[in-house]
Amino acid sequence: MKMMSQNELKKLVGEKAVAWVKDGMTVGLGTGSTVKFMVDALAKRIQEEHLNIIGVVTSAATEKQARSLNIPLKSVDDVEKIDLTIDGADEISDDFQGIKGGGAALLFEKIVATNSRKNIWIVDQSKMSKKLGSFPLPVEVIPYGSKKLFSKFSQKGYAPAFRLDDTGQLKRTDSNNLIIDLHLNEINHPHELAAYLSGQVGVVEHGLFLDLVNTVIVGYPDGPSVLK
Ligand code: 5RP
Repeated sequence: MKMMSQNELKKLVGEKAVAWVKDGMTVGLGTGSTVKFMVDALAKRIQEEHLNIIGVVTSAATEKQARSLNIPLKSVDDVEKIDLTIDGADEISDDFQGIKGGGAALLFEKIVATNSRKNIWIVDQSKMSKKLGSFPLPVEVIPYGSKKLFSKFSQKGYAPAFRLDDTGQLKRTDSNNLIIDLHLNEINHPHELAAYLSGQVGVVEHGLFLDLVNTVIVGYPDGPSVLK
């Protein structure tokens, strides 16, 4: 059997996930290369099946794609409820806790996820791990005081690094904030860490997405698998 590339696995799970979308739903649209395939597949379904769907985007990048495909959009503040959000993830543990923010969209992603009745993550198999921590944990911080936060994280042994963009400048999020990535290797107590990070003045949001998801679609070389 021919080995599927990571991109092929992402496409597979993106296409699979849109089966959860039903006519009339308001759907949160995540961010990233896996979600991109899902948004393409959703636009195709909307067009072919004349579905009445409202999308709620989680980043400027997803907004641009969704608009180009004529998916009707509303802001999270203008919808009564979000029925379902489909998003990617950077790392998922056996108990479905996750790290997100590799694409720097964690803030809007978490706002949309926490306002959704159901969340589904779509990933290729490389994202699954026994314990969280191998993917650097993104923390979105406001620029003012960010060097102080950086020092605090260093003293805690979190091996922080300011994220840079393609041109070597400090990466700015859609909200014009900065990202500090924490190189933790192993996160033994995610809830404690989440509470600590949320308690730091200047931290806008962190990439630990805990207790939000009960369905993960994983792309394996022999096909997508739905884990619940
Ligand atoms: C963006 C995210 C993405 O969902 C995550 O980085 C996964 O992206 P990809 O599907 O490109 O691997 O959290 O902030």
